[in-house]
Amino acid sequence: MCGIVGYAGNNEAVPVLLDGLSKLEYRGYDSAGVCISGKDGIVVKKSKGRLSSLAEKIKSEGGTEGKVGIGHTRWATHGAPSDINSHPHRYGKVTVVHNGIIENYAELRSSLTKLGEKFSSETDTEVVAHLINKYYIDDPISAIACACGRIKGSYALGIIFDDIPDKIYATRCDSPLIVGIGDGENYIASDIPAILGRTRNYYLIEEGEIAEISKDGIRVCNFDGIPVTKEVQTAEWDIEAAEKGGYEHFMLKEIHEQPKTIKATVDPRMINSVEGILKDEIIDTSSIKRIKIVACGSAMHAGLLGKNAIERLARIPVDVYIASEFRYCNPIFEEGSIVIIISQSGETADSLSSLRLAKKKGIPTYAIVNVVGSSIAREADHVIYTWAGPEIAVATTKAYTAQVAVLYLLALRLANDKRTINKDEAVSIFNAFSSLPDHIEKTFSYTERMQKLASLNSNINNLFFIGRGQDYSLCHEGSLKLKEISYIHSEAYAAGELKHGTISLITDGVPVIAVITEKDVAEKTISNIKEVKTRGAFVILIADRNCVDEKNVSDICDELILLDSTAPLLMPIICAVLLQLYAYYTAVYRGCDVDKPRNLAKSVTVE
Ligand code: F6R
Repeated sequence: MCGIVGYAGNNEAVPVLLDGLSKLEYRGYDSAGVCISGKDGIVVKKSKGRLSSLAEKIKSEGGTEGKVGIGHTRWATHGAPSDINSHPHRYGKVTVVHNGIIENYAELRSSLTKLGEKFSSETDTEVVAHLINKYYIDDPISAIACACGRIKGSYALGIIFDDIPDKIYATRCDSPLIVGIGDGENYIASDIPAILGRTRNYYLIEEGEIAEISKDGIRVCNFDGIPVTKEVQTAEWDIEAAEKGGYEHFMLKEIHEQPKTIKATVDPRMINSVEGILKDEIIDTSSIKRIKIVACGSAMHAGLLGKNAIERLARIPVDVYIASEFRYCNPIFEEGSIVIIISQSGETADSLSSLRLAKKKGIPTYAIVNVVGSSIAREADHVIYTWAGPEIAVATTKAYTAQVAVLYLLALRLANDKRTINKDEAVSIFNAFSSLPDHIEKTFSYTERMQKLASLNSNINNLFFIGRGQDYSLCHEGSLKLKEISYIHSEAYAAGELKHGTISLITDGVPVIAVITEKDVAEKTISNIKEVKTRGAFVILIADRNCVDEKNVSDICDELILLDSTAPLLMPIICAVLLQLYAYYTAVYRGCDVDKPRNLAKSVTVE
């Protein structure tokens, strides 16, 4: 939620800031702004709407020459998207951009108001500018430290002081922040893609640290002003990974990257044998008696597939929790429990808090994370990275399938260690992983079918996804993908559960997407398909060709897609790609902003 950037160098700051913000727009895109320190002193330009509106405004109004600046792209929390509520916020000698939430802002605002200070916006951020200004005489570090001492909540801040025009300051608590190290220029940013076109080297700013950035150098100290020595990090992602590379949308590009990202995630863990899976990340599995998977949204859906796999193969009970529920439900940790947090960004507030809760209780924690060095990755006891590369589209695709792949590897390793599957089955699943990228590649041959189906159904208001077992878990993700980007209401239903209520919604032409990848329950799902078909549903069946008899099922569905078989465990990953394509093309037909769906932001760093 919200992205911040900052620049101090020898070039004009505006183009650098706008470019950086364009790479962070996935974090929020309802307004944007910059503060430039230059020839006209401190100039703030901000505008409601997309970054392009800000760029237009700057172009038409001018006055933004300067080589030092901070910028912001917003996902509104306090105060509607408007010019006035956009960042930067300025008070006295202080201008700030902020990512996070100041939880005690109302209290702070009222005490500052009593002192006669006037506020111009409805935001929580404005109190930060007031507070820093209040404590500022001539020592920026101590002013920032004093202000932070009074703030409760999360923040990554970029700050400019009127009388220190050549420097920017930055600090953080529970929101991500990096400082990019350039040659004669330096940066701050919420995330690596914002600086990737200019440098690969950066520092991770820790909580309780303040960075002072000028074109000539970076100084990091703690809140007492004592210098902190930082280790230079190097981003492995290449710049192309954060560009569209000829695709119309990031989402389509990221869908197509999946053969590569699955390979990158799986191959390094499959070097020798089943015994060697995840050996670098998980040393001893013998004490694991119960697993709690905690995550949000699609990452939680990946967890559901993980539960299916771990329980089936390794016979270890797994509970899957929505992180925002877990953190407040006073969870019961049985002996031998571990907690697995799944998160693409590694910054999701509820997931991070759940991790901290588990750690506080002394429970071993594992994190399946995509962003190296993110808060969750740093705080978990053990990290298993998904090597999906930067994911820019708000709707996750390649990170989700990589998360599922990691959970499947874990299931196989646990099952093998516990001897709950025989050697042959283990080896056969192990071998199937190597052909998974090819199977995913083959799903792209269904692109035209998916386009056609999407065009047929693009005017609908409701859709149902049905399946059993792992297919039901997959349906949750298919449904989320469709609704978040196409704004069509859809629901995932356990196929056998429909008749307990929801089947009343099935009328002529209501689309139902059914998934069958498990032979054991195929006949049962087929019966459920017949039930909806009889009531007029337009049925699309996606099935593993080994699980159904084509002749028998062609009559009960309107569209049939039969996928080549591999290990049944892996089939949901392959089907997921088809469902992603379906959602993508439906959103395109409906004219939706695929990469930036309304009201959403990629990285949910607030509760
Ligand atoms: C949906 C989507 C979200 C995220 C969720 C968790 O397409 O992307 O549901 O999965 O916000 O985000 P991370 O994985 O960053 O913790």
